[in-house]
Amino acid sequence: MVTKVDTQKAKIAVTPPGPKARELLAKDADLISASVVRWYPLVAESGSGCVIRDVDGNQYIDFNSGLVVMAVGHSHPRVVNAIKDQSEKLIHYSWTDFYYKPLIDLAEQLRKITPGTFTKKVFFCNSGAEANEAALKMTRWHTRKPLFIAYTGAFHGRTFGTMALTASKPVQRKHFFPLLPEVTHVPYPYCYRCPFGLTYPECKLWCVDFIEEEVLKKYHPPEDTAAMFIEPIQGEGGYVVPPDDYFPRLKRILDKYDILLVDDEIQSGMGRTGKWFALEHWGVTPDVVTIAKALASGLPLGAAIAKEEIMDWEGGSHANTFGGNPVACAAALQVIDIIRDEGLMENATRQGSYLIKRLKEMQTKYPLIGDVRGKGLMASAEFVKDRETKEPAPKETEEIMNKCFKRGLAIITAGKSAMRFAPPLIITREILDEGLEIFEGAVKEVAAQLT
Ligand SMILES: Cc1ncc(COP(=O)(O)O)c(C=O)c1O
Repeated sequence: MVTKVDTQKAKIAVTPPGPKARELLAKDADLISASVVRWYPLVAESGSGCVIRDVDGNQYIDFNSGLVVMAVGHSHPRVVNAIKDQSEKLIHYSWTDFYYKPLIDLAEQLRKITPGTFTKKVFFCNSGAEANEAALKMTRWHTRKPLFIAYTGAFHGRTFGTMALTASKPVQRKHFFPLLPEVTHVPYPYCYRCPFGLTYPECKLWCVDFIEEEVLKKYHPPEDTAAMFIEPIQGEGGYVVPPDDYFPRLKRILDKYDILLVDDEIQSGMGRTGKWFALEHWGVTPDVVTIAKALASGLPLGAAIAKEEIMDWEGGSHANTFGGNPVACAAALQVIDIIRDEGLMENATRQGSYLIKRLKEMQTKYPLIGDVRGKGLMASAEFVKDRETKEPAPKETEEIMNKCFKRGLAIITAGKSAMRFAPPLIITREILDEGLEIFEGAVKEVAAQLT
């Protein structure tokens, strides 16, 4: 019998990892692929709302939402019921070979909530990487152009195609070469650490003009460039938010050269930033949107949604067996309704601005916090050894994360030395405050060691 989470509070009964966790960790080390790296030894047993409980009875406030997946909270009763009901009716019937209603209903909803008033079509799959893989193949098929552009620091997945777009850590590519060869990477608008050493707004957004002047006009012919892949807020790269005029200007250049814009909303989408999709903050409409993570509240589901004319590939050119599974679609339909019915985008905006305010207050107290940024409930605090030199503080960041874990806050890092805040969108002020108190306690201790 599984013990359920009893309160929406942190509770450490035994210093983690406790005895039951240690037993499982030993088996895991023996059995599981060495290619996955865990953040810390949290062995999850049950979850509810914003809290996750481990096998030894410890409870953690979840500031990472199971890697930015549990937007409507753990085991939301409406999602659980939809999963139960759909499982009793139909668990699988291969969408690429036959038809079923939950998939059509979900496609209809995705067409409505994604940006753009034009007609769209939907391709279903099982994960974020697969959604981007579909976007790679469909934009190449449609345009008959071989080249792509992506950002340094980007994370778009780890399949062979998407690995060529991903450029956030060498380990993700090392010993896997040669990759899909035709991807050029350009610097992300990371103003706190401008790759060109410039300062916004005096820089006049050279990072956008660079793409036109130094890439498209010098060695990457636009006539051969199918698409540019973007993360509207760079996720794994450090929760980096571009300046407000960046994306409108970028889109003008892409339109000028007839290059498609693929908007990877796998981490930033589904209401996380206070809008269905983060790119909407800048009024820019992409040609293709990719979604996964929060879409089906933990069931594997991904989707690439594109302008109708882009999805003109012929029957048999791309498909899969499990994509758009009926149980996952039933869960996703609930996720969309819950986000609307419970006002979760409004809550993300409200709690997100409170979160940023609290983090900025901490920044005035602890020089270790060099930068605070975010939109809605996708926020980060970047740690530096020195505010002047901005030398990253990865060791200190990891120490803070581990202290948080030992005290009942599940939170993880992003980029070199940022802490990412991505709690479920249902979070209340009270739970947010409790988590932030644990976080501040850890920052205070690590900061004190430095002085
Ligand atoms: C922005 C972004 N794109 C793509 C992916 C890949 O998704 P998946 O792990 O489901 O393949 C991730 C995963 O973290 C992501 O954050």
